[in-house]
Amino acid sequence: MIKVTFIEHNGTVRSVEVAEGTSMMEAAVGNLVPGIDGDCGGACACATCHLFVEPEWLDKLVPAEDMEKSMLELAEGGGPGSRLGCQIKLSKALDGIVARTPVGQH
Ligand code: FES
Repeated sequence: MIKVTFIEHNGTVRSVEVAEGTSMMEAAVGNLVPGIDGDCGGACACATCHLFVEPEWLDKLVPAEDMEKSMLELAEGGGPGSRLGCQIKLSKALDGIVARTPVGQH
């Protein structure tokens, strides 16, 4: 299992454990973590899985592809560490990853 920690905008910290290969979006939605919607089901088409990966994890991620980059331009309040949760597949290398969730996705 891979441990993922989400920090909500209000400071609430939730750690969940999910199977390898699960996406960050699925890890959040499947564990009812507020702030991540995942409306398109992970097709990189809605940007409602926007989250902020903590700086120390950024260089362990597979870089965003062009489609993700253009969807991120639609996400509100983007900034350093902005990624689409559905495009981050959890591997052993990401065990322990920490991400902040936005206030909302709309
Ligand atoms: Fe829609 Fe990630 S779930 S872009």
